[in-house]
Amino acid sequence: MAGEFVPGHYFERLAAAELVRDGRPLEVDLGCGDGRFLMEMAEHHPERDFLGVERLLGRVRKVCRKVTRRKLENARVLRLESRYVVEWLLPEASVSRLHVMCPDPWPKVRHHRRRLLQVEFLEAVRRVLVPGGEFLFMTDHEEYFEWAVAKVEEYGRFERLVWEEDSFFHPKTDFQIQWEAEGKRMWRLRCRRVD
Ligand SMILES: C[S@@+](CC[C@H](N)C(=O)[O-])C[C@H]1O[C@@H](n2cnc3c(N)ncnc32)[C@H](O)[C@@H]1O
Repeated sequence: MAGEFVPGHYFERLAAAELVRDGRPLEVDLGCGDGRFLMEMAEHHPERDFLGVERLLGRVRKVCRKVTRRKLENARVLRLESRYVVEWLLPEASVSRLHVMCPDPWPKVRHHRRRLLQVEFLEAVRRVLVPGGEFLFMTDHEEYFEWAVAKVEEYGRFERLVWEEDSFFHPKTDFQIQWEAEGKRMWRLRCRRVD
């Protein structure tokens, strides 16, 4: 499908050249859903490249259709599991910003281990970020937000940055629009890799 990124190999780390074009900044959106955020970012920043990661085929197809319709050459989507992509596929120091927007909060205590935000995941995020690269996390779930802040502090190799809603261009995601319409507020965490 046009707009789909299919790795040359699923069991070896990608070569940076497969992803990064002429040193252009690469941004990754994990669990990109139908791709609204990805599309708007790609249109707003033609000088950057964007990779969405999504495991559901129907959503990947929707993203591909949008990429084709909008004739975007700087957005692609990879159908795979987020943790696998970050921990095993992405090359070291290849990503300038990594976004995790409205992830599943797994609210029950017995399901907390399924949350994406774990120390091992943060280690992998740090590895794939370029020096000074950023990790952005947003959720409507206050307890998951506090969990994420605690994990970042426990890991200790990120510096927390200010992120007000209008600090910089960061369009609303599909779920954010839906949840804000229901009166929910969003919790934002922005961190920079420190060396
Ligand atoms: C709550 S939705 C949020 C979608 C989008 N980020 C937004 O804010 O509108 C979570 C998305 O992440 C995807 N997802 C959940 N777990 C995933 C995983 N482990 N790997 C890849 N995608 C995942 C789901 O299929 C879904 O599209």
